[in-house]
Amino acid sequence: MMEEKEISQAVIGRLPRYLRYLGDLKDEGMERVSSQELSERMKVTASQIRQDLNNFGGFGQQGYGYNVEYLYREISRILGLDRTHRFIIIGAGNLGQALGGYLNFERRGFLFSGIFDKNPELTGKEVRGIRVQPMEEMEQFIRDNDVDIAVLAIPKASAVEVAEHLVQNGIKAIWNFAHVDLNVPEGIQVENVHLSDSLMKLSYNINRYLQENRKSAEL
Ligand code: NAI
Repeated sequence: MMEEKEISQAVIGRLPRYLRYLGDLKDEGMERVSSQELSERMKVTASQIRQDLNNFGGFGQQGYGYNVEYLYREISRILGLDRTHRFIIIGAGNLGQALGGYLNFERRGFLFSGIFDKNPELTGKEVRGIRVQPMEEMEQFIRDNDVDIAVLAIPKASAVEVAEHLVQNGIKAIWNFAHVDLNVPEGIQVENVHLSDSLMKLSYNINRYLQENRKSAEL
């Protein structure tokens, strides 16, 4: 097993995309792939690919390329996907139910194990076979079920407080959809997700494209 040096967050951010493409190659029955070929598929330069993958030591071999299965396995391992993570969802509204209902997380080893909401009208409602529980049952549930990730799908007003409570009860990582920055102790991992950020990027790019086209039309 190779030594791992600190890998930049930028590279880590790109690994899931490599994993998706390698998964496709695997499904197609390909045993190996050159950085050139991967580059054409992924529309990134071959040198970027070599640089990224060199972070983990000698995956590639001159004249052979990359062994698809091996690379897939190693990237999965680096991303910690070789073990399962249990997660709970806080907030059983539109978003919480949609996330709970999404089957594909399981494929990556993320097991949806509980969902909680403060609204008593939702108690007992089933989300993919799992009943919504009241918040009062959360503490015990985390303790009994070896949960390490909590998904925050509640409005920002109570997100900070709920996050503190989760951490006090042993949650190690928060996938935060609430539109507020959480204040968590060192060692607790937070990943903020704001779908609208992605939309704003889209909007910016639409504008830029229109402007550039207008400019070239005027020339
Ligand atoms: P929703 O109103 O359908 O659901 C929110 C649920 O949270 C409700 O069932 C409510 O009872 C529950 N809740 C509120 N406070 C709680 C607390 N302290 N403890 C436990 N449960 C609590 O809203 P929706 O559409 O599901 O969105 C949830 C939140 O996520 C919203 O605040 C929204 O702004 C945010 N959101 C963020 C997105 C992102 O990309 N980051 C995308 C969509 C929504």
